[in-house]
Amino acid sequence: MPTKKVEVWDIWVRIGHWAMVVAVILQFITGGDLSWQQAHATVGLLVLGWVVFRILWGFGGAGSARFRAFIPTTIKALQISLAALRGGPPERPATHTALGGIGALILLLLLGLIALTGAASSDDIFFEGPLARYLSNDWVTLATSAHHRLTDLLLVLIGLHLAAIAWHQWRLKEPLIQGMWHGKKPADQGPLWPPSTGPRIWLRGFALLLVCLLATWLILGTASL
Ligand code: HEM
Ligand code: HEM
Repeated sequence: MPTKKVEVWDIWVRIGHWAMVVAVILQFITGGDLSWQQAHATVGLLVLGWVVFRILWGFGGAGSARFRAFIPTTIKALQISLAALRGGPPERPATHTALGGIGALILLLLLGLIALTGAASSDDIFFEGPLARYLSNDWVTLATSAHHRLTDLLLVLIGLHLAAIAWHQWRLKEPLIQGMWHGKKPADQGPLWPPSTGPRIWLRGFALLLVCLLATWLILGTASL
């Protein structure tokens, strides 16, 4: 019997995810290039604004985007998730799987940390993040080195993320990529509350996203002006 599809990812989670993919690619292209320093800082601050939004949305957003819906609280949930990956009974939650949820949270926190350390980094010649001028040389050196190491770690985690998505998509035949595109995913549960569609969630998400982007820009973007 075909599994029913359930509305899972709201518009802001989806737009944010794909925008972040583009942004991260841009960051790797511009990070070492002096002529793109301003673009690198601007895109990085947008990423930070989105990460702040996504974290707050994890507490008060659409049901399936909330952390309590997908961060496992028991070892058993993790064991079920691992067994499903190995071809056991599928999990099919109306949100991330238990393992996917942990991965999503780690990726989000790492992106936020990279943007923050970037804001405190300096190349010692022309390019420094907006926080660097407020910190001692030692802290700036530490932040710069962390910025480099964490971007290496990000590459590794993106590799794992893509491998896990590919496994679900092609081996377990769960169309997760389409789900992140149009919002629906095969699930055994009904949609989680509050729903991920409708004008109320759209407006709430839009307002929160705008506030997060503006606040990040006002606090960090203008610090270097
Ligand atoms: C820069 C590279 C990427 C990063 C940093 C990244 C990060 C993330 C994060 C943080 C989430 C959790 C979303 C949320 O709960 O808001 C997620 C989910 C997801 N990502 Fe990515 N992603 C990247 C690239 C990709 C690519 C290239 C694909 C597809 C080929 C993809 C497919 C997905 C899918 C399908 C999900 C949802 C999984 C599920 O249904 O549980 N990601 N990603
Ligand atoms: C998630 C967002 C970000 C990513 C993925 C990212 C990625 C990178 C990468 C890959 C490099 C080159 C490292 C190398 O050459 O080995 C770099 C350098 C740099 N980034 Fe970022 N970055 C981000 C955010 C930011 C932000 C927000 C700022 C400042 C506002 C910033 C400031 C810098 C600086 C100053 C350098 C040069 C450091 C040096 O030359 O040693 N980055 N970044």
